[in-house]
Amino acid sequence: MSRPSPTSSAAGAAMPSARLTYSLTLRVLHWLTALCMFVVIPLAWYMTGLDRHDPMQENWFNLHKSIGLTVLLLTLIRVVTRLSGTAPPLPAAIPAFEQTLAHIGHGLLYLILFAMPISGYINSYAGGHPVNWFWLFQVPSVVPLDKALGHLGGRVHGLLAWLTYALIAGHVLAVIYHQLIQRVDVLGRMTGRAAKR
Ligand code: HEM
Ligand code: HEM
Repeated sequence: MSRPSPTSSAAGAAMPSARLTYSLTLRVLHWLTALCMFVVIPLAWYMTGLDRHDPMQENWFNLHKSIGLTVLLLTLIRVVTRLSGTAPPLPAAIPAFEQTLAHIGHGLLYLILFAMPISGYINSYAGGHPVNWFWLFQVPSVVPLDKALGHLGGRVHGLLAWLTYALIAGHVLAVIYHQLIQRVDVLGRMTGRAAKR
């Protein structure tokens, strides 16, 4: 994963450098997670807007929870993969201040990738509503039945949803900025095509 690739120095001699793209595993995990997020959020808006007596509401909730728990699983695998290898350093063409912002933004994105599913889980399980993961099996409970705790989980889930929207919007705008205005191929680092620095 951390295999160095030879690049040319200014003098023309081949020298080892850090890789320019994320590993295939990290790229697949990133795009699968992004896909899940772009489904789970509109689904949340749709399901919470339904009439309480809608016969399909329970199914939409179960689908939302199943995708949400999948995000948690993908993120666990991703963090272990990320920590056990190396990720490409941010391109030197990006100013130090923006690099700091990128690190903070990515860190917060990881935070919500854990906090959203966990708060949703607490909301559901402490409230006595188990999840039938894609109608295949029931996900076990690790929290006590506790209405107040369930309520707290729901509050946190609802509040963090706003942070989630802001972070995703900021993330996508930052990529567009680097790509189109700053002309640094950050997208190539996550798609795997050879990135230039
Ligand atoms: C990455 C994962 C997740 C994201 C991004 C997410 C996002 C959201 C959003 C945006 C809402 C609407 C909030 C509102 O407008 O008040 C919502 C509601 C909800 N989510 Fe999630 N969710 C995730 C995972 C989960 C999981 C794993 C569960 C349960 C196991 C869950 C259970 C719920 C429930 C029960 C509601 C409805 C709360 C209510 O009745 O107002 N979510 N979610
Ligand atoms: C259209 C949507 C998206 C695009 C175009 C995109 C693009 C990218 C790119 C290009 C990078 C690499 C940044 C770099 O190091 O140069 C990246 C990293 C990252 N993205 Fe996204 N992304 C998208 C959606 C999302 C979503 C929905 C999430 C999670 C909520 C997310 C979470 C992350 C995280 C945590 C990283 C840092 C990876 C690491 O260094 O371990 N992305 N994204």
